[in-house]
Amino acid sequence: MSDTSPSALIATRSAAIAGEIDRLFDSLLLVPDDARRRLYQAMRHAAIGGGKRLRPLLVQAASDLFNISRDSVLRVGVAVECIHVYSLIHDDLPAMDDDDLRRGKPTVHKAFDEATAILAGDCLHDLAFEVLADEETHPDPFVRVELVKALAIASGTSGMAGGQMMDLAAEHASFDLATVTRLQQLKTGALIAFCVDAAAIMARLPQEARTRLHAYARDIGLAFQIADDLLDVEGDAQLAGKALGKDAAAGKETFVSLLGADRAREQARMLVDQAKAHLHGYGAQAELLCAIADFIVERDR
Ligand code: IPE
Ligand code: IPE
Ligand code: MG
Ligand code: MG
Ligand code: MG
Repeated sequence: MSDTSPSALIATRSAAIAGEIDRLFDSLLLVPDDARRRLYQAMRHAAIGGGKRLRPLLVQAASDLFNISRDSVLRVGVAVECIHVYSLIHDDLPAMDDDDLRRGKPTVHKAFDEATAILAGDCLHDLAFEVLADEETHPDPFVRVELVKALAIASGTSGMAGGQMMDLAAEHASFDLATVTRLQQLKTGALIAFCVDAAAIMARLPQEARTRLHAYARDIGLAFQIADDLLDVEGDAQLAGKALGKDAAAGKETFVSLLGADRAREQARMLVDQAKAHLHGYGAQAELLCAIADFIVERDR
């Protein structure tokens, strides 16, 4: 008999999407026979064959609620993964977290060099929008423009990059809980929320019908970063595929430094329960979204 537990569902669905995301990256990043070869190789090193692919899985899970084509799901999934991978390449640079290992492999600036890592990040950022704007992603140009705008907002000053700026400041400032919450919502939550919002955009859902899904996304986004901060303190570096213990070493203010590990864990659990409560009414089609919420706090990597 096949295992139908939430963790088995995550394992099956993420293995499927991970393979397809790898194949799509492979076809988007064919290495040219000229002086840009190294740039493409660096992009492939970072983008192919690693990571949990949680963001594409979330696009899929939210799209399960609607009738959205597999191609659209995958292309939006690859676009958000492009932004995520670019953010990781730059996050690992000596100017930021100065890390040598990512997804169990040398970071891009270690395997290549810093200039190549900066450019590989830049080009993955650009590729995200090229993919979204392409007709193959969605037949409706209004939908494509909305996807581009939503991903731009989730990535820029009001999203990931703004949160990264606050995160750097968190090494020297003593932020309160409200400020750390805002930092995490921008740094990690915004991109995670985009994955869910993207499904609502592709389904052309009216604004008022998007609020419950967006509330789910906000809650899991915050829970996700609390779990990352807990893993930084308590996780296994081998499983995580990256160096841990970095936040405390940098004197960084996080949920864990402010609340302690136990209360931070309770907070993450509470957010996940709240997230799942927002899905009441969607029924069995929300099964994967519910499983992802639990996975986010139970994960070991
Ligand atoms: C790590 O993200 C960086 C954060 C935003 C906390 P993930 O934990 O999703 O990393 P991968 O994609 O699985 O490597
Ligand atoms: C980085 O957060 C989040 C990004 C936007 C890249 P962290 O610095 O905590 O991520 P890890 O722990 O290096 O994966
Ligand atoms: Mg960082
Ligand atoms: Mg880091
Ligand atoms: Mg971290």
